[in-house]
Amino acid sequence: MAESMKGLKRSCRCAELGSEQIGQEVTVMGWVQKQRNKGGIIFVDLRDRSGILQIIFEQGDIDEAGFEKAEKLRSEFVVAVTGEVVKRSGAVNEKLKTGDIEVRAKQLRVLSESETPPFPIEEDSKTKEELRLKHRYLDLRRPDLQRNLIMRSQIATLIRQFLAEEGFLEIETPMLTKSTPEGARDYLVPSRVHPGSFYALPQSPQLFKQLLMCSGYDRYFQIARCFRDEDLRADRQPEFTQVDMELSFVDEEDVMDVNERLLQKLFKEILDVDVPLPIPRMTWQEAMDRFGSDKPDIRFGMELKDVSDIVKNCGFGVFTGAIGQGGSVRGINAKGQGAMPRKKIDALVNYAKEFGAKGLAYLSIQEDGTYKSSFAKFMTEEELTALTEAMEGQKGDLLLFAADQNKVVWDVLGNLRLELARNLGLLDKSDYRFLWVTEFPEFEYSEEQGRYIAMHHPFTMPMEEDIPLLRSHPEKVRARAYDIVLNGTELGGGSIRIHQNDVQETMFEALGFTKEKAEEQFGFLLDAFRYGVPPHAGLAYGLDRLVMLMAKQDSIRDVIAFPKVKDASCLMTDAPNCVEQKQLDELCLSVRKAAGEEDGNRSE
Ligand code: AMO
Ligand code: AMP
Repeated sequence: MAESMKGLKRSCRCAELGSEQIGQEVTVMGWVQKQRNKGGIIFVDLRDRSGILQIIFEQGDIDEAGFEKAEKLRSEFVVAVTGEVVKRSGAVNEKLKTGDIEVRAKQLRVLSESETPPFPIEEDSKTKEELRLKHRYLDLRRPDLQRNLIMRSQIATLIRQFLAEEGFLEIETPMLTKSTPEGARDYLVPSRVHPGSFYALPQSPQLFKQLLMCSGYDRYFQIARCFRDEDLRADRQPEFTQVDMELSFVDEEDVMDVNERLLQKLFKEILDVDVPLPIPRMTWQEAMDRFGSDKPDIRFGMELKDVSDIVKNCGFGVFTGAIGQGGSVRGINAKGQGAMPRKKIDALVNYAKEFGAKGLAYLSIQEDGTYKSSFAKFMTEEELTALTEAMEGQKGDLLLFAADQNKVVWDVLGNLRLELARNLGLLDKSDYRFLWVTEFPEFEYSEEQGRYIAMHHPFTMPMEEDIPLLRSHPEKVRARAYDIVLNGTELGGGSIRIHQNDVQETMFEALGFTKEKAEEQFGFLLDAFRYGVPPHAGLAYGLDRLVMLMAKQDSIRDVIAFPKVKDASCLMTDAPNCVEQKQLDELCLSVRKAAGEEDGNRSE
């Protein structure tokens, strides 16, 4: 039976106690982690968000009724204990913050009982994630998740403090806003007052923050919830949080400077890690050429080498064919992996195929200087020697090559490089390597849409010398955009914005918008630009990704209190769900039944 808290006040959290409090009377409240009954003496591990404290119940200290209650305690009961802090009678538990003390209980109240939980509440849970997510309120009791969310809160607080000190104003922007093309798919919200019309949930506060600059707010930030209806991955959720900022009268250097100092402060205060400044910079082109990725993990080498020149006239049709079609042949050197068994190489080939490779050519240099290779037979001795030299190959190395269009080759080798690093244990989570990637292409060609689309967004300023190419050679235009990358993860991105109407209009033109379409979609921005716009720039971090890396987790689900699963549903609340016909009627909506569906308005 649940007892009341009346007359009791918690004096501190469980693990806030230590040997300094020995002799004091305290009242602690929390959950029973476990109870062990050793005859006349009962040990209880009491848990709250601060950690675990050992409580001892012994007849004599506590009355008969209290002792009987203690005998009945089970895991996850919520209790209040009043007692005296004493030096631990048994061996000191080095693993606990409170390992050298215990509380001898004088009074016990059972505030709430618990059924047996569906899985144990413990660190490093072995329970399947689905079951944990279904009962997320229990999962969130686990110390690892509590640490992550506490760290998340500390990070957000520090960010607010730092940005406020730097003169940023925190301003909220709407959640119910206008659907605009470009970017990911929108989440739509039907309007009751305007049947047939929809709001969109924001994919980012981009347009509003630019308008705030037009309105003179100068330095804005927001810890903003964003929504994107895209396929989920370990580092992607349909709703996520950005640390979003925008600054007026600045250039790249100003934005990078304030952000570098912000990151330095966060890493020092939260992790006691020193981030040396300035953070290195690399152009997009160099990142692709050296790492096959626009978010290079620079914790390890194994860089890509372009060997097209060396093999362009060789006898291996796969190589010459790719070069003939405008592609390239590039390789990586897996140092010391020359003895890798065929089976493992085949696994790498299959991995490469997931990224569009038609194959992967390998050359392993044996200790006796001979080669084992899938293509050596097509090449002369001189060609093989030149290739090996270009790859800085030595005895015992494994050289892996991909031949295709550049985009495929980069993607294949960039990912292969990471896979090898994972397999070889080269990725140390406490080695934090930041990198700015700059000069992104302004556009990328979308096969699906048959036109150029903005790589960052349509408001990104092209590099000045490339502006004349906007109409004639969009593929050559570089953007004044920058991404901040940490250990192979894109942590954030931003750009200098276009603040001249004529450049913005040319941009829309290059993106295939008619004047009318641009006016219809972004008219309010173009209008605002007619009344005095400061040059401005900004950046947004994925807060979830930042916390994930700082908490050394593999998925942003582990740093979000109530995340969604792969199909964008919430296993705990069962969202999204069917709604009442009445609600649909009010919105003038009718739902088409998906094929094979019996009833209800959910199409799966
Ligand atoms: P961008 O689209 O690059 O830029 O987003 C900024 C950062 O947000 C994070 N992010 C995500 N995190 C989790 N789940 C997702 N689905 C997801 N999508 C993005 C990433 C990313 O780097 N308005 C611009 C910023 C600007 O130009 O100022 C923007 O949204 O960490
Ligand atoms: P094939 O002549 O198709 O049997 O290929 C010979 C070798 O080249 C095999 O090891 C293939 O895996 C490899 N290979 C095939 N296509 C490519 C490619 N596009 N890039 C690199 N290697 C390839």
